Amino acid sequence: MQVQRRGEVASTQVEARALAEAGAPHGTTVVADAQTQGRGRLGRRWAASPGENLLLSIILRPPVPVREAPLLTLGAAAGVATALDLLVKWPNDLVDTDGHKLGGFLAELETAGDRVAYVILGLGLNVNQFDFPGLPNATSLRRLRGGPQDREAVLDDVLRAILAWSAHPGRLDLWRERAHTLGRHVRVGEVEGLATSLRDDGALIVGGVAILTGEVGG
Ligand code: BTN
Repeated sequence: MQVQRRGEVASTQVEARALAEAGAPHGTTVVADAQTQGRGRLGRRWAASPGENLLLSIILRPPVPVREAPLLTLGAAAGVATALDLLVKWPNDLVDTDGHKLGGFLAELETAGDRVAYVILGLGLNVNQFDFPGLPNATSLRRLRGGPQDREAVLDDVLRAILAWSAHPGRLDLWRERAHTLGRHVRVGEVEGLATSLRDDGALIVGGVAILTGEVGG
């Protein structure tokens, strides 16, 4: 596995995509200290204090059809949650037992016909950042574990977990074991009710309704 280090970039997603287009193999990873245009899910920005957290994008070349692509991110989130002893908020936020967010995944997909050509899987993980002005729901490994963390050791754990999982896409049993969302009353867009299960295609079942995309609120 090749890890490329960068100082400040616009987004590690952009850097990794350029490498993927140039033929970089499965597992190639870009890690940056800072981003000026960090991307989050649902068109949002991802902000992080420079030098304190993990900002990375990994190139995955899984031999799966496009319809299985959502399962890749769910599996990665479950694998990393297990490695770091965290929970997963649907679909792929890393949270503590109180639902405070430590990190999230962003998957950008390139297809070749009905197959996945590659996925740029981005992870933003709050490691040593302590203050989150204006983000009352955010936390970090440092806050959770009660002291500064070794970013390199966390990076190693994270990459091992993602690569180990990516040999077994579709391991939704692990996600279900690590789920913070299941068994809770939630709201996703217009739908509100008990989140009862994760369907095999990755949909969250809320009050009997299948949700394929969105943001879980309390
Ligand atoms: C989310 O919205 O929860 C997903 C956030 C993903 C952020 C990471 S940081 C590294 C990579 N580069 C980006 O621009 N975004 C992802």
